[in-house]
Amino acid sequence: MEFDSSSSIWDGVYYHSHLFGGLMLTAALLGLSSSYFGGLGSSYLPYMLSDLGFFYKKKCEKKRIRVYMDGCFDLMHYGHANALRQAKALGDELVVGVVSDEEIVANKGPPVLSMEERLALVSGLKWVDEVIANAPYAITEKFMNSLFNEHKIDYIIHGDDPCLLPDGTDAYALAKTAGRYKQIKRTEGVSSTDIVGRILSSLKDAEACENHDNTSSLPNDDHKESQSNSSHISQFLPTSRRIVQFSNGKGPGPNARVVYIDGAFDLFHAGHVEILRSARQLGDFLLVGIHTDQIVSEHRGKGHPIMHLHERSLSVLACSYVDEVIIGAPWEVTRDMVC
Ligand code: CTP
Repeated sequence: MEFDSSSSIWDGVYYHSHLFGGLMLTAALLGLSSSYFGGLGSSYLPYMLSDLGFFYKKKCEKKRIRVYMDGCFDLMHYGHANALRQAKALGDELVVGVVSDEEIVANKGPPVLSMEERLALVSGLKWVDEVIANAPYAITEKFMNSLFNEHKIDYIIHGDDPCLLPDGTDAYALAKTAGRYKQIKRTEGVSSTDIVGRILSSLKDAEACENHDNTSSLPNDDHKESQSNSSHISQFLPTSRRIVQFSNGKGPGPNARVVYIDGAFDLFHAGHVEILRSARQLGDFLLVGIHTDQIVSEHRGKGHPIMHLHERSLSVLACSYVDEVIIGAPWEVTRDMVC
């Protein structure tokens, strides 16, 4: 089996940098001798400098590392965003393969979101440079060679959870054998399956609530209801470091037009990406207010939101059009928010 390797390119850069250092020293010595011999050596200087320029350029043009991460990215959540953030940190350019609907059906069961929706969500993330639609679920030899040769990928990346095909084999086995595989840490406490579970649980709660309103309440009914509610509440708490990692860390410039938009942004979807893109186009800095769980629950009913405040905030912050978020914004825009 033949795999392209980029190691020679790296050897090349490394080699030139050494040579550059050597030439610098030689140039300094010749510069001295040319003045000592009354400028005899000066005619060689332009050639020398052009040579230096050549090596200097080579050194500056250090190859950019291109990394590839694929996935289903169904019901995209901050765990996916965190995976892509870590992948981007392993290179300079991140290319993301969004697995086709057919491949997901064959390997995991039907996805909730369509290819177009998943593509819009992934493309809207701040760490993503390019996307490949309809990627295969497993890294086949043909696909891997197209990644290396056409897309100039240096490394293929996946989370540290095993990714097995229906026959029990590792979906990334070939990339590992080729020595072009890297791993990132999977984010605990969230998954697409978990989110589907939360949605179902919230529907059950809403149904129970309706029945409760229609029938007379038994003494321990309230207790059962609160038990059912707590079963889908995520325990995820973001650290200040995680928020910093997701943030672009920039404030508005002196004359920036700051645009404010608020909402629940529950189960972050393609429509959210689109509205945030439009809002950002209205000004220079986009500030997004994320309503508290209590406000969302008051306006949307029991069982809402599905994702709690911190989770919703991270999903919004991961969007490339967003500059800053207010974690727990009030329902009404107050004077101090405008000034
Ligand atoms: N991932 C992660 N943390 C999570 C969920 C996913 O780091 N909580 C990573 C996976 O390891 C993978 C990428 O995100 O590298 C895309 O994952 P995906 O193919 O969408 O599916 P799953 O790994 O099954 O995750 P989920 O069930 O949440 O969709």
